Amino acid sequence: MTTWQKYLKESKLDESLSYVLADLEEVFVDLWHAFSATGNDRLEGKIENMNPTGDMQAKMDVYSNQLFVDKLSKNGAISILVSEENIDPIIIDKKRDGLVVVFDPLDGSSIVDMNMSVGSIVGVYKGEGVKGLSGRDQKAAIMAVYGPSLSVMVTTGEGVIEFIYDLGKKELVLQNEHVHIPESGPILAPGGMKGCGMNSWYCALFNKMMEEDYSLRYSGGMVPDINHIIKKGGIYMYPGTKEKPGGKLRLLYELAPLAMIIEQTGGLAIDGKNEILDIVVSDYHQKSPFFAGSKHEIDLVRKHIPK
Ligand code: AHG
Ligand code: MN
Ligand code: MN
Repeated sequence: MTTWQKYLKESKLDESLSYVLADLEEVFVDLWHAFSATGNDRLEGKIENMNPTGDMQAKMDVYSNQLFVDKLSKNGAISILVSEENIDPIIIDKKRDGLVVVFDPLDGSSIVDMNMSVGSIVGVYKGEGVKGLSGRDQKAAIMAVYGPSLSVMVTTGEGVIEFIYDLGKKELVLQNEHVHIPESGPILAPGGMKGCGMNSWYCALFNKMMEEDYSLRYSGGMVPDINHIIKKGGIYMYPGTKEKPGGKLRLLYELAPLAMIIEQTGGLAIDGKNEILDIVVSDYHQKSPFFAGSKHEIDLVRKHIPK
């Protein structure tokens, strides 16, 4: 049975990328265990602090960010870290010709205290920074789902591989070597429905899909929702609204890594017009509308969205 570490040894990955992926296994496992802490060790609720994109931080946001930063800042292959929870990049060693690792340490912080599934999202670049690059420049993209089990999907541009944490072995083991999204599927995860009334095309598309017997499956956690869609087919949507034309979700450490994973499974991810992977990063925390999933459902969006 192939494990995460064995896969890293056997695949001909760049050595520095392997070092980073090796450390990420530990981060994901530690974080998954942290969610089941009890008593005084259990971290619930918010703190009086806003993150760079205006969300109140949950205690678990701060904890998970610290876990990523502590582990990755000791990794000799990394020169810069960019996190959803830090305004500025964290410079580890700028002189080093290293990797830039971007991450959303905890995706779904508004539902984590309700014991719902959440995730982490990671993208890896090479170079002096990420401004001026696009998601197509990513060397790897990874998402971890913290649910009843810990599962991880990883791509280095040659398809997507899925691993599951084995409680007996205490490591990630191979689950699916060729993850493939169906061309079309029944799962409909529509975010941003509060703006639906102002966004008549979005309401019209939603109503049409409900009439066509799609299954409504929006959890408030994009990673488990995307994981669901990759397995069964369908679409995740978070459009721009009148008040927030750029939507809610962040390009660099949320959308670009998920877009790379979706595309590598055979699906698509767009902002309504352009592919997410083609959008150039100009700001670490820039936002974008997001539509991701099976080809057929992305086609429906293209037909409905105003030109
Ligand atoms: P984060 O927890 O990193 O701030 O991201 C939450 C994201 C995503 O996971 C989810 O689908 C979406 O925000 C939920 O937003 P709404 O509460 O507006 O539905
Ligand atoms: Mn997020
Ligand atoms: Mn987050």
